[in-house]
Amino acid sequence: MLAWCVMAFFILSSSVKGSPTIKLLEQKATTSCDNFQLAGQDYTLLKYYVSGANSGYQMGGFTAPILIDLPAENTMCNFFDFYNDNCTRTQKCWCEEIRPGEYHFTYNKTADADTSNATVVMQWSGRPGALYSDQYTFHFVYTAEMGFVKFSSTFKKSQEFLVAGEDSTELEFDVYGGEIYNIPESGNAPQFYYVTTDGVEHKGCPSFDRDTGICFNQTRTNDRCSCRKKSRCVYRISYTLSARQYVSNATVYLLWPGKANLRSEDFKLPQIRKNTGLG
Ligand SMILES: *[C@@H]1O[C@H](CO)[C@@H](O)[C@H](O)[C@H]1NC(C)=O
Ligand SMILES: *[C@@H]1O[C@H](CO)[C@@H](O)[C@H](O)[C@H]1NC(C)=O
Ligand SMILES: *[C@@H]1O[C@H](CO)[C@@H](O)[C@H](O)[C@H]1NC(C)=O
Ligand SMILES: *[C@@H]1O[C@H](CO)[C@@H](O)[C@H](O)[C@H]1NC(C)=O
Ligand SMILES: *[C@@H]1O[C@H](CO)[C@@H](O)[C@H](O)[C@H]1NC(C)=O
Repeated sequence: MLAWCVMAFFILSSSVKGSPTIKLLEQKATTSCDNFQLAGQDYTLLKYYVSGANSGYQMGGFTAPILIDLPAENTMCNFFDFYNDNCTRTQKCWCEEIRPGEYHFTYNKTADADTSNATVVMQWSGRPGALYSDQYTFHFVYTAEMGFVKFSSTFKKSQEFLVAGEDSTELEFDVYGGEIYNIPESGNAPQFYYVTTDGVEHKGCPSFDRDTGICFNQTRTNDRCSCRKKSRCVYRISYTLSARQYVSNATVYLLWPGKANLRSEDFKLPQIRKNTGLG
């Protein structure tokens, strides 16, 4: 009777110990921008413990555990080579057998647009049905981006047109992901332009110092550029053009050259009339 009990206990405990297990052991994410990540700079590391392969759940081959995203279920990482069942050893997907039958799977992913707010889960498909680890949701990732803030004119004397020497027009944007897109490298900073109705393109004043990339304010005869650092990765820049007949109906836009390679839409300035001194 006792022997039978001991044997039953042994069978029970060994089946519990050997049951297929996937556990998210460790999660680490670097965040350069407050709680956000910067594309190309930050990374996220997820480490899983996996064990208990049996006749229903295999460690190698096509049914080995894989990391998938949700809800699309794209494969993010394979931890075994399909052809020889060896552990994968790449910078991004790292498999390690820590004891016979027990593994650590590590996913180390550099932040990019694909991981922004993405949710992943480790899935182990088997005959009795798929097993899953806890889910993990990545941080929001900043890539170079221009966020329109405002385009407005003063219309001090009329609702229909601007008056030269009296009015002005301001175009404002938030630019994100700055440090990664090398604003400090001269020529790579976001820059406002305007095109007059004679087709000539003019450069507005800069919001960033051409040599150092430092965010600054500059006032010139006919225009004013301002820059304010909102956080490590977000700058608010604005361009104010004073009304002159020469810029009547001109279009204004923001260009961010270099790696960011972005251009805003065109914003059309209102008609501008000579100041008649009346009204
Ligand atoms: C795969 O594993 C086998 C042994 O199981 C080994 O001989 C072979 O070199 C491994 N291949 C690679 C690419 O590591
Ligand atoms: C993960 O990748 C980053 C680079 O993207 C690297 O700096 C870090 O050392 C890696 N961590 C591990 C544990 O491999
Ligand atoms: C990403 O998640 C953050 C909060 O975690 C949210 O504020 C933001 O709107 C989300 N972005 C997108 C594009 O879903
Ligand atoms: C530019 O001027 C605005 C207000 O006029 C100010 O908030 C901002 O800090 C200034 N930027 C710099 C870089 O001094
Ligand atoms: C500017 O545009 C207005 C219509 O929006 C038009 O009536 C006017 O002739 C234009 N002026 C010039 C100089 O192109």
